[in-house]
Amino acid sequence: MGVSGPPELRSAAVIAGDAHERVIWHDLECGGYRADLALWRELADRAASEPGAAPILDVGAGSGRVSLELARAGHAVTAVDLEAPLLAALAERGAGLSIETVCTDARELDLERHDFTLCVVPMQTVQLLGGSAGRSAFLRRAHAHLRPGGVLACAIVTALEPFDCSAGDPLPAAESANVGGRLYLSRPLRVVLRMRTITIERERTVVHDRESMQPAPCSLRDVVELDRVRPARLTREALAAGFTAAGVHEIPPTADHVGSLVVLFDA
Ligand SMILES: C[S@@+](CC[C@H](N)C(=O)[O-])C[C@H]1O[C@@H](n2cnc3c(N)ncnc32)[C@H](O)[C@@H]1O
Repeated sequence: MGVSGPPELRSAAVIAGDAHERVIWHDLECGGYRADLALWRELADRAASEPGAAPILDVGAGSGRVSLELARAGHAVTAVDLEAPLLAALAERGAGLSIETVCTDARELDLERHDFTLCVVPMQTVQLLGGSAGRSAFLRRAHAHLRPGGVLACAIVTALEPFDCSAGDPLPAAESANVGGRLYLSRPLRVVLRMRTITIERERTVVHDRESMQPAPCSLRDVVELDRVRPARLTREALAAGFTAAGVHEIPPTADHVGSLVVLFDA
């Protein structure tokens, strides 16, 4: 998810490319979500009961919200992500646990083993792959890496409500974290639903420690574009990649997060 936005909202004091800050923003915006963890654990436990079970493949693993949960529950995990800084944080947090990290594009996945029993794709990562062509490329690679009967589980969000603070809609509460004497605040400003995409725009603000005479608060915008996809469409694409449909699991909304659907396929 890239950082972009009008230049006037950028500031040298926020180092957009800085690996450390990349992890802080990722943790702040993704790390607190827990409503899906029980499902990933249940799927992993089921996969582990298969004879000769392989590690769990976590695609778009980020800084490890799901990988760490599964590894702490005793599963071996192969964590794949495009962003090296996030995987470095994951590896550090998972020291002593059975986690392998692989920095690669999920659409070009090419790992040594092709006998995974479970591939999880949490938190809408499958909606970040560049539309139908990117999803289909990933689905083919996922199928090639799963053993026959292995399970692919993709979380998608379909029920985001549009809003726009600049049009007078109420400003949602910011998520915040205090790290190293700086307060990091991330607040959604706008959700725009278009025919093929959902654009989520956030304001990210860093408030420096006043005691240390650091610069004044500064903000930038982060824009994430999710592909709109419904279970029926994902299923058509997965069938074309060689999967069979294995049902849909609903994760209800929480006070802080919208609900999602986890679409399951058998290889
Ligand atoms: C919404 S985050 C989910 C992070 C983590 N799985 C979680 O549930 O907290 C999406 C992740 O997918 C990764 N990602 C996006 N496109 C990718 C691609 N083409 N291949 C691999 N990872 C990708 C991003 O770097 C990011 O870490």
